Amino acid sequence: MDMLELIKSRRSIRRFEKRMPEKELIMKCLEAATWAPSATNQQPWEFIVLTGTALEKVNLINQENFAERMQSLDPFSGLPEEYGKRQQDIFRANIEAAEKDGFDPKDYLEKTLRFCDAPAAVYFVTHKRDDNQYVLSNAAAIENFLLAATAQGLGTCWLSVVIVCQQDVKEHLRISPEKELIAGIAVGYPATDSAFNTFDRTRVPADQITIWLE
Ligand SMILES: Cc1cc2nc3c(=O)[nH]c(=O)nc-3n(C[C@H](O)[C@H](O)[C@H](O)COP(=O)(O)O)c2cc1C
Repeated sequence: MDMLELIKSRRSIRRFEKRMPEKELIMKCLEAATWAPSATNQQPWEFIVLTGTALEKVNLINQENFAERMQSLDPFSGLPEEYGKRQQDIFRANIEAAEKDGFDPKDYLEKTLRFCDAPAAVYFVTHKRDDNQYVLSNAAAIENFLLAATAQGLGTCWLSVVIVCQQDVKEHLRISPEKELIAGIAVGYPATDSAFNTFDRTRVPADQITIWLE
């Protein structure tokens, strides 16, 4: 598969087989993450891989604290109109997928808080900084991770919901207050028969959002 095909074949996977991905495969994805560009090559990232009871405990923490932690956040208002519309589209697609897969759409949020019931999960962790350099570097590393996973037949979902309770998760995992969780990634083998993993996705064509000056 050429690189462009690989990039387009990556998609967010929200239902997984129970089968645990091999440790070597996950480590290969993390190695790919470390080859991302980073601000002055500081490589400002650390990874926490969770499986088994360690993952179950973190899932519980996220589920128990989410409602309270969300009270101080408002991720839905003030969005540019076209972004807000696309956000609604993805919510609708996931709710329809839940219905097709035969469970209550209201459980969708709970499910994402449990890393989509994936057998493995990875947190990307960095030191806090006022500028965005470490966040940007981690975003590059995360995309490398996702692409390497796709290339090896693994499914992933980049999740922000699992960092909403980061104070609680950090305390539990004994992560220093000077550090922050950038993202959580659900990892596992994709459930091939799930509507969550097969609904159509759209992209605005690049030529509609590009200004080309000569
Ligand atoms: C910063 C970021 C945060 C995300 N958080 C979530 C999330 O909390 N829950 C979820 O279901 N998907 C989440 N996603 C996945 C996006 O919904 C997904 O990437 C988008 O709909 C495009 O679909 P695709 O990944 O299949 O191409 C997140 C993606 C990014 C980049």
